[in-house]
Order: sequence, then C-alpha cells, then structure tokens
Amino acid sequence: MTDRIAVLPPAVADQIAAGEVVERPASVVKELVENALDAGARTVRVAIEDGGKSLIRVSDDGAGMSRADAVLALARHATSKIRDTPELIGVATFGFRGEALPAIASVSRFELETSPDGVSGTGLRAVGGKREDVHDAVRQRGTTVTVRALFFNTPARRKFLRAQASETRAVVEALTVLALARPDVAFSLTSDDRVLLELPPATRLLERLRGLWGAAFADTLLPITHREGALEIQGFAQRPAQAKPTGRKGYVCVRGRPVRDPFLLRAAEAGYRSAIAPGDRPSLILCLDLPGDAVDVNVHPAKLEVRFRDKFFVEQVVAAAVRRALGPLAAAAPVEWVREPALSGAGGGDGTRGIDTGPSEASAELFAAGARGAEAGPRPVVLQVFDTYLLFQSAAGVAIVDQHSAHERVLYEGVLAQLSGDGAPAQRLLLPLTLEFAAPELEALETHRELLRRVGYEVAPFSGRTVAVHTAPNPHPRFDAARCLQELVADLAGGRFGGWANRLERFAATFACRAAIKAGQRLEPEEIRELVTRLLATSLPAHDVHGRPTIVQLPRDELERRFGRS
Ligand SMILES: Nc1ncnc2c1ncn2[C@@H]1O[C@H](COP(=O)(O)OP(=O)(O)OP(=O)(O)O)[C@@H](O)[C@H]1O
Ligand SMILES: [Mg+2]
Repeated sequence: MTDRIAVLPPAVADQIAAGEVVERPASVVKELVENALDAGARTVRVAIEDGGKSLIRVSDDGAGMSRADAVLALARHATSKIRDTPELIGVATFGFRGEALPAIASVSRFELETSPDGVSGTGLRAVGGKREDVHDAVRQRGTTVTVRALFFNTPARRKFLRAQASETRAVVEALTVLALARPDVAFSLTSDDRVLLELPPATRLLERLRGLWGAAFADTLLPITHREGALEIQGFAQRPAQAKPTGRKGYVCVRGRPVRDPFLLRAAEAGYRSAIAPGDRPSLILCLDLPGDAVDVNVHPAKLEVRFRDKFFVEQVVAAAVRRALGPLAAAAPVEWVREPALSGAGGGDGTRGIDTGPSEASAELFAAGARGAEAGPRPVVLQVFDTYLLFQSAAGVAIVDQHSAHERVLYEGVLAQLSGDGAPAQRLLLPLTLEFAAPELEALETHRELLRRVGYEVAPFSGRTVAVHTAPNPHPRFDAARCLQELVADLAGGRFGGWANRLERFAATFACRAAIKAGQRLEPEEIRELVTRLLATSLPAHDVHGRPTIVQLPRDELERRFGRS
C-alpha cells in the first residue's frame, strides 16, 4: 500500500493560503495599503486598471525595505511585525501574519520596488510566486508594489471575478474603510487614469468624511463621543429624520482597524430606539478604542472581524453612545408632522429677520414647501398664547409648543456645531460692555474663554473683577447680551447643568438655555413661524435639552370625542 498523505509543495500551499487572503482585486488593495500604513506612510497612492484585474499598483512613502528584507518579504510567515505569540495580544499593526505578500505573489505577476533611504533601492519580480530577479532600483524612500494579471495561473478563480464596475466599486470600498481608519494619511485612487478618490490628510474624522462624501452629507451628521470604563467610542451618527431604508453608510473601526460587524451596527441602531422607523438604516461611523487584551484580532482569514471579550458590554455602550449623540432623550417617540399644511402660507421666510440661528438649509426647504402649499392648503393658524406657548395645526391635531424650550433646542444644535467648528458670527460692540463678576465666576470665564469665543463672546480682563466684553452673539432681536453672559457664567461657575459627561454638550446646553427667548416674550407672527420651522428641522424636535417636552399634542380624535363628533 502506498502512503496517501504528502506534504504539499510550497507553491501549492501558497496558492491555497492565497485563496483565504486574496479573493478579488479589492483584497489585494486592502493588504497592500495596510502594509503601506504599517510602514508609516503619509501618502498612499493606488492605481488600478480594468477593475484591478489587469493591474493594481500601490505606492507609499513609508519606511521601505532593505534588499534582504525585500527578498524575505515574499517568504511565507515572514513578518517584521511580531516575533512571538504574546505580541499578538494588542498588536497595533494591520499585518502580523506574514501571509499577504507571498499569497498575492503566488497568484499574479508581481513587482516590488523599495528603498529604505532614497539612496539604495531594490527591485524584485516574481511570477506565480517564483522569484525571477532582484535588481537595483532608483526611487525615493518608500515602496511600490505592482500586481498584474491577478489569478492568471488559477483560471478557476479568475472566472469568479465580476465585471469591471463591481470590482472597481469593491476597491473603492476597501480604500474607503482604510481612509476612515486613518484620516491623517493622504490617499488617492485612480482607475484607468480616472481619479476616483483624492483625500488630503485630515486632522479630524469629519474632514475625512467631507473628503469622501461631501460636506452636504458629512455636515448633517451628529458627533458621537462617549466613554465607559476602558471603552471609548467616537464617530458620527445620522440624524433620525435623514435615515433611509437603503444606501446607508455603516463603518466600524476597532482599535484603528476597520472591521465588518453587523452586530455592532445593529446595537448602534438600537440607540435610536423609536426615533427612526423600523426599516430605516441610519448612516453610522463608529470608532471603538479599548485595551488590546479586550479584543482578539486574529479570528478571520482576512482580518475583517474581531472578537470582543465582552461583546454584550460593548454593544450596550455603543447603543448608549448613539443615544447620547442624538440628544438627551432619543428615547421618546417621534412626533408625526404634516409639515406643509401646518406651515403653508409661511411666506418667503427670508430667514434674515427674526430668530437667527445661522443658515439652515432644512428650514429653507420647509419654507419653500410651505410656500408651494400656500395656494392649495388652508392658512395655518399659528397663535401665541400667554406670550409663552405657540399653537398650530399638526398632522395629528393641535400642537402646542413651549417657545423657550423650542428655541433652546434650536440653539443647542446650532451651538454644538459652532463649538466644534470655527465658531459663530459675532457682533463687535462699538462700546465694550463692562461687567463685574465674583471670583469663582472669573475663574469660570477664564476656563471657558475659548468656548465663549466660539459662541460669540470675546471677553478680556478689564480691571479687578470687571471684564470687558468686545463681541457678543446675536441669536434673536430681543437678545440681552449682558444678562445672558452673566447667567451663563453663573451657571458655569455654580455647576448648574451638571450631569453632562461631555463638556461641549454641557456648555452648549447652558448657553442655549440662557440665550433662548424666554417665556413671556411676545413674538411677531413671522418669528413664531420661523421658530416652529426651525424646531421641526432639528434632530429631536420633541424635547428640549433638559429632556422636557417642547411640544404637547392635543389629538384631533380627542377633540372630536369631546365635542361629541365621534
Ligand atoms: N509597503 C511596505 N513598506 C515596507 N515594508 C513592507 C511593505 N510591505 C510589506 N513590507 C514588509 O514585508 C513584510 C511582509 O508583508 P506581509 O503583508 O506579507 O506580512 P505582514 O504585513 O507582516 O502580515 P499580514 O500577512 O498579516 O499582512 C512585512 O512584515 C513588512 O516588514
Ligand atoms: Mg501585510
């Protein structure tokens, strides 16, 4: 009897391993770009032809390799990133197996050019994993890998490749997830000489989101910042009103590593509770940071999944993080509005008069919609009662809005955006205001100086306990800049408005409360309409920043019952 078990020749073993690592051009791009990032690249350029089927080229300006290392890089299990199993725990590089390059080389015509110093350089070629030659090459510091004719020697696999457009899409996606994980690195992607992505290095994730998907999308997202125990969550969540059943962007990074984790996205959606309709899928970008020993990254052949030691905890915290990003009370049921009839006849609503919270495209659209509906629909009755409540018709019946709470919610969202951006437009005062403060208040003024500047207050010491206010915000015509600042600073000094884990949110809530129009102020009809419009355009119109309702509904069927109509 002959022996039936034989150790496979290395070339065959490499091809089998390649099947796990390299499935399509996008997986080659992923591995090569990860290597570039691991090598400390500041700029990564990717070029593909025919969806990557005929050519994939990744160039970086990273550390490069010596000749000996370049030769070794093509050997299986050759890696510079770990030396021993314990190092696998908490490994911070994308790669650690020494599988990718040999796997890719074994199923392609492979070329590598690299230089560790911009002086000496090495070029290397392999066909189907067999090294052809090693030669001198001239190039700047960094590495370029060119992969041609992917799967040329494994026709069965080549047949599985899709049309050029779908392979290209998959490449864009592969690069997108890495670009999200590393906003600080510049990326570009060209496909048959067409530029598909051009991403400058960014200091903030938001800039990267703008680079990928445009400011119109990115700037409507709500920032997530949350920490519980050792788990820190950053990212962005789409406003409930903008979530749709299809086309969502859902990305998860764990310790800087992009992963596919439908369960985490599901958990994040749970954070919306009833704020979205059951079929809606909000866009979510989640970056989780936690200690290396709380997560195992070596559980998937392409490293696309990770395993958490305490998955339940992670999911709970993700849901809580999203809930907080949406506002203090995402838990409440959304109010259903028929916007057009309620706001029809709102007129041009040029948005320059009345309550000014900065430009709001959403409200402009509502006004436009309202104006269009004006010919057909009934004139809305928007009424102010007790100089405090606004009454109008909604889809379900009669809605009553508390004007202070409503304005507070409107200002809060605007201010939060200003605090994390360049700040609000402020008015320079012809004569600086001088205000006197108590010692703890002066300290609060000093600690919050930059945040105050961003909402429009430029304050400088004057003498003793007196400070000079040079600029002030102007959120509405009846705004009392001095009083607002005094109350705001007293709140900040007195620790009122505690309970906000996030400093920016706490500041925004405090400012919104003090700057908002008060109960007991008579408003012009136009101001009333604009306030209601702006309220409906916020992410959580139904609640103010303290979680109190901004809107009370008197359902129509309740009215009909009381009047004996039903
Ligand atoms: N662009 C690059 N710049 C510098 N060194 C590189 C580059 N690409 C690969 N290397 C070197 O070649 C080695 C092998 O790369 P390879 O991708 O095969 O393995 P790895 O990244 O260590 O692990 P994994 O298989 O998990 O990706 C790396 O450890 C690294 O030292
Ligand atoms: Mg690698």
